[in-house]
Amino acid sequence: MSDAPEPSAIAPVGRGAAGGRVLDAENPCEPGTATSATVLADGAGRRGTELAKIIVLDYGGQYSQLIARRVRDCGVFSELLPHHVPLEEIAARKPRGIILSGGPASVYAQGAPPLEPGLLELGVPVMGICYGMQLLVHELGGRVEQAEVGEFGRSDLHISDAGTLLHGLPREQTCWMSHRDTVFEPPPGFSALASSSASPVAAIEHRERAIYGIQFHPEVVHTPYGQEILTRFLTEICGCEPTWSAASIADEQIRRIRKQVGGGKVICGLSGGVDSSVAALLVHRAVGDQLTCVFVDHGLMRKDEGEQVVSTFRDTFKVPLVAVDAESRFLEKLKGVTDPEAKRKAIGAEFIRVFEEEAAKLADSEDGGSSGGRPARFLVQGTLYSDVIESGGGTGAATIKSHHNVGGLPDDLQFELVEPLRALFKDEVRAVGAELGLPERLVWRQPFPGPGLAIRIVGGEATKQRLDVLREADHILQDEIRRAGLYRELWQSFCVLPDVRTVGVQGDERTYGYVVVVRAVTSDDAMTADWARLPYDLLETIASRMINEIRDVNRVVLDITSKPPGTIEWE
Ligand code: XMP
Repeated sequence: MSDAPEPSAIAPVGRGAAGGRVLDAENPCEPGTATSATVLADGAGRRGTELAKIIVLDYGGQYSQLIARRVRDCGVFSELLPHHVPLEEIAARKPRGIILSGGPASVYAQGAPPLEPGLLELGVPVMGICYGMQLLVHELGGRVEQAEVGEFGRSDLHISDAGTLLHGLPREQTCWMSHRDTVFEPPPGFSALASSSASPVAAIEHRERAIYGIQFHPEVVHTPYGQEILTRFLTEICGCEPTWSAASIADEQIRRIRKQVGGGKVICGLSGGVDSSVAALLVHRAVGDQLTCVFVDHGLMRKDEGEQVVSTFRDTFKVPLVAVDAESRFLEKLKGVTDPEAKRKAIGAEFIRVFEEEAAKLADSEDGGSSGGRPARFLVQGTLYSDVIESGGGTGAATIKSHHNVGGLPDDLQFELVEPLRALFKDEVRAVGAELGLPERLVWRQPFPGPGLAIRIVGGEATKQRLDVLREADHILQDEIRRAGLYRELWQSFCVLPDVRTVGVQGDERTYGYVVVVRAVTSDDAMTADWARLPYDLLETIASRMINEIRDVNRVVLDITSKPPGTIEWE
């Protein structure tokens, strides 16, 4: 699972892989460094000098990332690591507890992910969920078997002996199951706490050894008491205080940025999305006017968005901001370009050129000008925790996910990266944004591709005239969707302008105008998406406004393709 593939803070084409530049050696998600286990220890969520941290070991389950997020929702910092991460790395992080996730394997399958020897000897509580519980039962001498039928979806849970884990919860409740192998007997010394319709043993515990297991999924909303069970594990069993909050994250990141940057100059590319906005604000809070933001207006933004970014940062937050009006440069580069990837490449390359020019102007005064004015030393990058996980789960990661990435800054710019969102999930980024006073419109902005409206003019060249038609149509769509209160429910909503004209009739006149496609999808992560069932009345208002208000548009259609088989964008 990944979070919103929002445009990169530096490049308008994907996230902009860090390609060979220096990573923050003190990064909370970068293992194997001397500081990795304790990097946040003197910040948020500490007890004594240790950060309360839970490690979620990923056995390949579809909900693994969700478990890590739910733990954080309980106010406790969590890290998601692959199940095969060496024991020393886990120990070095000094977790207060370990959660073993679910996974698709059977414990009897050849090559099934095993339990790391020694994991139960680390002296911290361990809780297995689904496959994680089956693994514990299997390894510790209980009985796991393939049942006649699997158990998928909602199930009734009966608590026979609440133990520590389920203490205080209703005896009868529902839960969400997703398994085929089933636990029939707990290991010796364990008590069986609950059963469900198809699972004779649905929860177990060994209080003295602090080992727990639940067959169902506490992390999904269909398990109504799931969050309470997680909270019990985290607080009663692992002894964590709920101190991980937007305010504490902001404080901690500001402190870390100050330490990293010292008196150096920092540059940040603003895209208008929430990631680069929050990253920039954190850096500005930390080092004030040592930061300069660069906003490259490539002329491919939504209506008024450029002005909103400039006024928010320059006028409201008083952040030094260079706004470059580069529309004509980009349109020049897009002349005659119709192929989607060629458009992306042209935009990416031009973006880098403009950004480089601006960066070079911001000479670093640290060296007293002896270098002849080298660019700022630090570059802010809005890398999120989901990028870190996808690029190797924070265990010696390869490169940042390069989905759609055709650019990135050239290596010879030699920036040191400042990545204040590297430990955060998207919802935490939004929470920090709200905490820092970022306007609601920016905090909740839907993802918008770096190449902007250019890749929504399909099958044709992105000319100024077509961009203006599309921008106007898009503006009407956003306006009506916001008015209907649906903006936040949709993952993305936008218009597409195919390079075709259709015949219509308006008044007594025959028209030959553009067809506008309305695309609105719901999704959790952009990997899959469903077309949104917008109300008919709303669709009617949208269509008639577009046709009435935009001279060149005479037809509006709705895209009812989900992903897969379609993609979200048309190009
Ligand atoms: P698709 O069309 O592949 O899109 O289903 C998945 C997500 O990626 C966004 N997207 C892009 N983002 N640069 C970006 O920064 C791009 O070139 C690009 N192309 C697609 C898309 O909006 C959706 O959120």
